[in-house]
Amino acid sequence: MTNNPDRVLIFDTTLRDGEQSPGCSMTQPEKLRVARALAELGVDVIEAGFPAASRGDFESVQAVAREVQEPIICGLARCNPEDIDLAARALKDAPRRRIHVFLATSAIHRQYKLNMAQEEILRAAAAGVARARELAEDVEFSPEDASRTELEFLAQVVEVAIASGASTVNIPDTVGYTVPDEFAELFRYLRKNARGIDGIRLSVHCHDDLGMAVANSLTAVVAGARQVECTINGIGERAGNCSLEEVVMALKTRAAFFNVTTGIHTQRLYPTSRLVSSITGMPVPRNKAVVGENAFAHEAGIHQHGMLKHYSTYEILRPEDVGLSRSHLVLGKHSGRHALRERVQALGFELDEAEFNRLFEEFKALADRKKELYDGDIEALVLRAEGSAPGPWTLTELTTEARSSGPARALVVLTHADGRCVEHAASGDGPVDAAFKAIEAATGVRVVLRKFEVKAVSEGEDAQGEARVYVEYNHRTYRGASVSTNIVESGTRAFLEVINRIELAQAGSRARAAAAPPVPAAV
Ligand code: KIV
Ligand code: ZN
Repeated sequence: MTNNPDRVLIFDTTLRDGEQSPGCSMTQPEKLRVARALAELGVDVIEAGFPAASRGDFESVQAVAREVQEPIICGLARCNPEDIDLAARALKDAPRRRIHVFLATSAIHRQYKLNMAQEEILRAAAAGVARARELAEDVEFSPEDASRTELEFLAQVVEVAIASGASTVNIPDTVGYTVPDEFAELFRYLRKNARGIDGIRLSVHCHDDLGMAVANSLTAVVAGARQVECTINGIGERAGNCSLEEVVMALKTRAAFFNVTTGIHTQRLYPTSRLVSSITGMPVPRNKAVVGENAFAHEAGIHQHGMLKHYSTYEILRPEDVGLSRSHLVLGKHSGRHALRERVQALGFELDEAEFNRLFEEFKALADRKKELYDGDIEALVLRAEGSAPGPWTLTELTTEARSSGPARALVVLTHADGRCVEHAASGDGPVDAAFKAIEAATGVRVVLRKFEVKAVSEGEDAQGEARVYVEYNHRTYRGASVSTNIVESGTRAFLEVINRIELAQAGSRARAAAAPPVPAAV
């Protein structure tokens, strides 16, 4: 006999643990777009950032708290009054808010990082939770590196956090060290030994250093966790965090085993994954479970034969359940608005009338250059319309000239939002290099190119190439992406997006420096 399934809360930390991993940083408008997509996906809690980390983080959490209504908006804080007060200030306007305080508890962290004795940790945890509780009804506590903490001491810390007012206690496997059986044992131990634990929500937070973040999170659910902390595409520190789409689809596909439900609209998984990948520039591996390009591809003849008889022979998930349509309809220049709208909806995107009109214009322009438009092309158009960093520079003209011997030449004409029109020519090692140099000369921004890659987004000889550019400027990494049937053009536009991001970041820090008092930086 099965009981009524319990609800497991999905706590998304893409904007905090995900964003803090190298190469995944996002601008404030990008964070807002991701937060809105997470709300549409149906996550219960959005951890929007770590307000004490920087003024930018503070403002992003504040913006999400002001604009995203449905989910609980959460801000991270160390167990000190400054962090906690900043988190409360950043979250002030959220209809539903949570302060998440954390403190490391393992012997390794106590000795090498904090230089604190067990007694001091207990006092700091109690004080931190109590202060947060004065400022918010909903407080979560995390004993960082819990999976490497002595069990008895961990139970004491958890007890103190509960007694001080935490309504959620999260157990992190901070360094991805635990294994499923051991982790389940840890949860059972806490449920048996930490007083008050039955009155709070137990949560799990796993990293993927040994590739077990999803398995460890699922085992924690079996052992009583009723909140899973995870990120879209599993992005996060080092090898990443527990992947939201994998853990959610495991709970759904094996519902009879887990006997729990989530509030996730699973058809939004694929579009949300694509959005986060396009914004962060972090590609999704082809063979990634649930949202990878090959997740529903059947190559072996014997598998294809089985699939033709019945999908259940080789598929345990239906592509449409995660927002991927099975039919890959091809559109062309004679396709009308209706066909495009249907395709866009089938791919899981929801555009308002103005966005759709803009997309239709771009679709027609592309259809003039490319005979057949596949799902990858449509997706690239939508994501480009949603995703590129706006101005201040626009590419008005690009001319390149390349021979097999000798340097290539490029001429760019750029227009700036302030009205300037600048023209520059440069030579380089190939047309792309020449165009990058011409842009640097025209804008006066010199960067160190770290990576340039191009990949086809769809099929056919006239497939569009998606170019990604990663540069370093003033000790920070910036990236840009663009799609075109002409890869020199997509490379050039991607490079110009990088320059735009740099200018926007500089304008942002100038404006912030001139405004309010500084937010203390995290140590
Ligand atoms: O991995 C970790 O321990 C964390 C905590 C702050 C929850 O991210
Ligand atoms: Zn973490």
